[in-house]
Amino acid sequence: KTYTDYFFDKSAFNTLDGGYVPLTVNHDAPAKPLAIPALHPADSEDANHVEYTVTARTGEVQMLPGKPTKTWGYDANVLGQTIVFKEGQDVTIHLKNDLPELTTFHWHGLNVPGPYVDGGCHAPVYPGETKDIQFTVKQPAATLWLHAHPCPETAVQVYHGLAAMVLVQDAEEAKLPLPRNYGVDDIPVVLQDRHFNQDNQWDYQADYDPDGVQGPTAVINGTVNPYFDVTTTRVRLRLLDGANRREWRLHFGDNHEFAQVASDGGILPSPVYFTHLMLTCAERAEIVVDFSDYAVGDTVALYSDDVPLLTFRIKAKNDNGHGELPEKLADIPRLQATPGLPIHKVVMSGMDEAVEIDGKKFDMQRIDSTQDLGVTEIWDVTNTNDMHGGMIHPFHIHGGQFQIISRDGHDPYPNEYGWKDTVGVNPGEHVRFAMKFDFAGVYMYHCHILEHEDGGMMAQIEVIDPSEPRPKYKLMDHHTL
Ligand code: C2O
Ligand code: CU
Ligand code: CU
Repeated sequence: KTYTDYFFDKSAFNTLDGGYVPLTVNHDAPAKPLAIPALHPADSEDANHVEYTVTARTGEVQMLPGKPTKTWGYDANVLGQTIVFKEGQDVTIHLKNDLPELTTFHWHGLNVPGPYVDGGCHAPVYPGETKDIQFTVKQPAATLWLHAHPCPETAVQVYHGLAAMVLVQDAEEAKLPLPRNYGVDDIPVVLQDRHFNQDNQWDYQADYDPDGVQGPTAVINGTVNPYFDVTTTRVRLRLLDGANRREWRLHFGDNHEFAQVASDGGILPSPVYFTHLMLTCAERAEIVVDFSDYAVGDTVALYSDDVPLLTFRIKAKNDNGHGELPEKLADIPRLQATPGLPIHKVVMSGMDEAVEIDGKKFDMQRIDSTQDLGVTEIWDVTNTNDMHGGMIHPFHIHGGQFQIISRDGHDPYPNEYGWKDTVGVNPGEHVRFAMKFDFAGVYMYHCHILEHEDGGMMAQIEVIDPSEPRPKYKLMDHHTL
């Protein structure tokens, strides 16, 4: 079966927003090879332990003809080097801040203790400072990401470029017949959009919109008008919606079919075949595209709505396995709700400056809810925003991955049977998922439209280990730069 629609409510697509900024092709910029982020070298690595230094710094990139664009990145001018973790490994990371202001290093989707290792707003690294974190990788192979998360400057720092791919590898995924030759047939694809001003700069303040900053130019892995030279029959794309606000409605120009093989938190139980796939902010999808039907010399572009984002030029067709993927990819045990616990309810409401969770704005020092360590609770997240057709709020929770149970009592979308850490919630809809935390700590949960998050559409949960005295967490207060 091949799915041909986007599933989300059409009446809530961002294209219908009053403030929508349509994508357009930037004809000033020549076509360029898609930038492939370097793999981050380890400071040291052996079978059980890896050590990295990750530095947030300023940079500049020649994105358009004329002046280079001033950017921020992790060990790179923009975005970052791709960091690879192996399941079971002990990891030490030296987090270094070479920026002129405070930042945090948030490991989006990584199952690590909050609030300090997780790197949300309570884990500041001040300019010139280095802080160390340590954790053990305890989750299946997945495409995760690292981004800045200081409150309330997450949106502006990510807009400057502070976002990097993080890959977890494990033995199960390694056995699957999936492309995994990084940069050749296994490609990170960070989807972002920016407005370049007269000077070729990104001026966040000038383009500020409380419903999310958008720009007309698609910037993919930091490249404007990118192409990728295909040399193999199959290519795996690790798609990340790294935009502050934009939804991506992806399809090939000729509606070529592709297989989604992984969602936010790892490999799906089975491949799901699509011609169209929508991503909301922070969601990831790994897709495998079979180019074997094309001829050498052909080109085909990946689009969002009616704008080409990334052109694939078929240069060679080295056989890296084509035809059908196995019907079964991964065994994902279904989480069972711990009996006797109430439903964990969350309400997202409002738009613009009026965004809230459970009728409140975020307060860094307030714990909004609790859950015990090790139990599985059913969360019910709703989006009451129905003004002018409403908008889709991508709900994200730190501290692990959840399993979607239902959307308004109906089955989840066909690609929602794997692990997720972010889910787009339609206006008026109730999304239910099962969530279990593996570590005590404080974690944020929020809308991942970054301006909504900074605008207060965020709350925090304390995960409590009932067998231990409750620790005192040092919770930061809002700061001004
Ligand atoms: Cu992508 Cu609070 O995070
Ligand atoms: Cu996160
Ligand atoms: Cu939102």
